[in-house]
Amino acid sequence: MDGNGRWATKRGLPRINGHEAGTENIRRITIRAGEIGIRYLTLWAFSTENWRRPRDEVDGILRILAEAIARETDELHERGAQLRHIGSLDGLSPELRDAILDSIELTRNNDFIVLTLAFNYGGRAELLQAIRRIVADDVDPNDIDEALVNRYLYTCDIPEPDLIIRTSGEYRTSNFLLWQSAYAEYFFTPVLWPDFGPQELVQAVNEYRHRDRRFGGIKPPVAE
Ligand code: FPP
Repeated sequence: MDGNGRWATKRGLPRINGHEAGTENIRRITIRAGEIGIRYLTLWAFSTENWRRPRDEVDGILRILAEAIARETDELHERGAQLRHIGSLDGLSPELRDAILDSIELTRNNDFIVLTLAFNYGGRAELLQAIRRIVADDVDPNDIDEALVNRYLYTCDIPEPDLIIRTSGEYRTSNFLLWQSAYAEYFFTPVLWPDFGPQELVQAVNEYRHRDRRFGGIKPPVAE
């Protein structure tokens, strides 16, 4: 969800207003995604590197997250969204951690859409925690295969992404789902996240539908 800060600055507003506008966008994107048949939507809200931002901005984002959880959980639940989290909950206040865990618990049986919030998430941090746990579990090196690594990732119970959308004109992956994105399709758009509406989502999905995904293989020849 990139570009919140620039969205606000362009309007002469403090950056935090951009994060507020970006948060407002989450509801409409989630609903539209569910309606067009997307069953797993993962939103990257805060990276392990975002702690380097000025304290005021970090505190503002944490406040917005706490308010959004309190305000949106009931509606998400009514609409059948299941909330999940990937990343580390360390560094969050016990109240915020509990609020997130309560929302996850409340919505755990919903199946309209699985909305995964990547908060305090980094792909390298995810791989490091997986390696540490694999070693701590004394796994025989001969038993380490891709399926085993998948089971140690934060994303162990969601499928790998088909499409990764990055807003705001940046052409980087920035440590997002490093392992899981091996065969993902990317969609880059100059649109800033608060302006990335349901129409833009549909446009990205339509473009994705025309991609030729070969997963390293070749297309079978067309029968004469
Ligand atoms: C990226 O834009 C956005 C963030 C680092 C924070 C996103 C946070 C929220 C949407 C609010 C809290 C989360 C939830 C799920 C309610 P940027 O600040 O890097 O923008 P810029 O590149 O234009 O500076």
